[in-house]
Amino acid sequence: MTKGIKVPKADGEVARRRLAEMDLLHPRLRLSSDEGSIYMPVLDQSEALTAVGGIPVEMEFRPDTRRITPEDLLGRRPSFEVIGEIAIVEDDRPDEVASVLLSLYKNISTVISPISDVVGEYRTRRFEHVAGEVLTKTVYKEHGLSYHVDLERAYFTQRLGTERLRVAQQVSPGEAVLDMFAGVGPFSLLCAKMGARVVAIEKNPAAANLLRENVRQNRLLGVEVLEGDCREHLSGRKDCADRTIMNLPHSASAFLEEAFTASKSGGVVHFYAFTSVDDLFAPESAIQEAAEGRGWMAEILYRGVVRSYAPRRFNVVLDFRVLKG
Ligand SMILES: C[S@@+](CC[C@H](N)C(=O)[O-])C[C@H]1O[C@@H](n2cnc3c(N)ncnc32)[C@H](O)[C@@H]1O
Repeated sequence: MTKGIKVPKADGEVARRRLAEMDLLHPRLRLSSDEGSIYMPVLDQSEALTAVGGIPVEMEFRPDTRRITPEDLLGRRPSFEVIGEIAIVEDDRPDEVASVLLSLYKNISTVISPISDVVGEYRTRRFEHVAGEVLTKTVYKEHGLSYHVDLERAYFTQRLGTERLRVAQQVSPGEAVLDMFAGVGPFSLLCAKMGARVVAIEKNPAAANLLRENVRQNRLLGVEVLEGDCREHLSGRKDCADRTIMNLPHSASAFLEEAFTASKSGGVVHFYAFTSVDDLFAPESAIQEAAEGRGWMAEILYRGVVRSYAPRRFNVVLDFRVLKG
């Protein structure tokens, strides 16, 4: 018997993608379904329930014999993320994992391993080369768009793909989106593809260059790129955004005043944070304080877990509506 979760069929695909992004789906067992529900075998049931909800189950899942996994060849489960043709491996023996990945997946040409955390204002990491070609630049495809990324010089993760789609699916054509921490543009470009007029602000010059290149290459009209600090670019901008994206989870609270000021009354803000499992949505109080300080209100619309980040820590999102009296 294996632990799993049961979710309604209507929520199944989103839940499956989120669990896959979080590496929580059991790699060697198959999902099953009945008329109304999907049953997913998971590696950590409580983390999976925190992330996507559902009902805990314990049942027999059929083995997935369709493909050979890295785990089959290594006898242990390696941690890795693939972005374009680059695999980022976090393992005590990265060279062993690299040779398995290069033999199994023809689309991977390079294996690198992080030698620092994601650090600093620009949220970048340093890597060492493990195997294959020596490169940190690649092209990543997501939701019909392609992104030039440079993993060492500008922040990027594919683990937010489902979250980016959740946000972009709320966009109405013509609405004004403000992406305060745009990086190489994955939220901005997808919102523009949905018909939004986007202001994308990015402080890291390397990320801003990639962002401009990505706007050009995807032939998207309606993305204005502003390079520099969002505080400076937003000074004097009031009541202009229908939707504001604050994807700077380690310190977005410090920018709430700018977000409230730039938002129209009735505008929606997507606010990201890293929090402890003991108080997942703790930043709600900072949001309410920032609103009340100006005589405004914040109506919380959605509380979600985006992915696990560290033991007992999660990347969460709070969507709220700004109400200016
Ligand atoms: C966590 S990354 C998110 C990037 C992008 N939204 C994504 O999902 O890939 C945050 C980005 O904000 C940028 N940044 C940090 N402080 C900033 C500021 N004060 N003004 C504008 N951009 C900033 C960093 O350089 C980094 O690219």
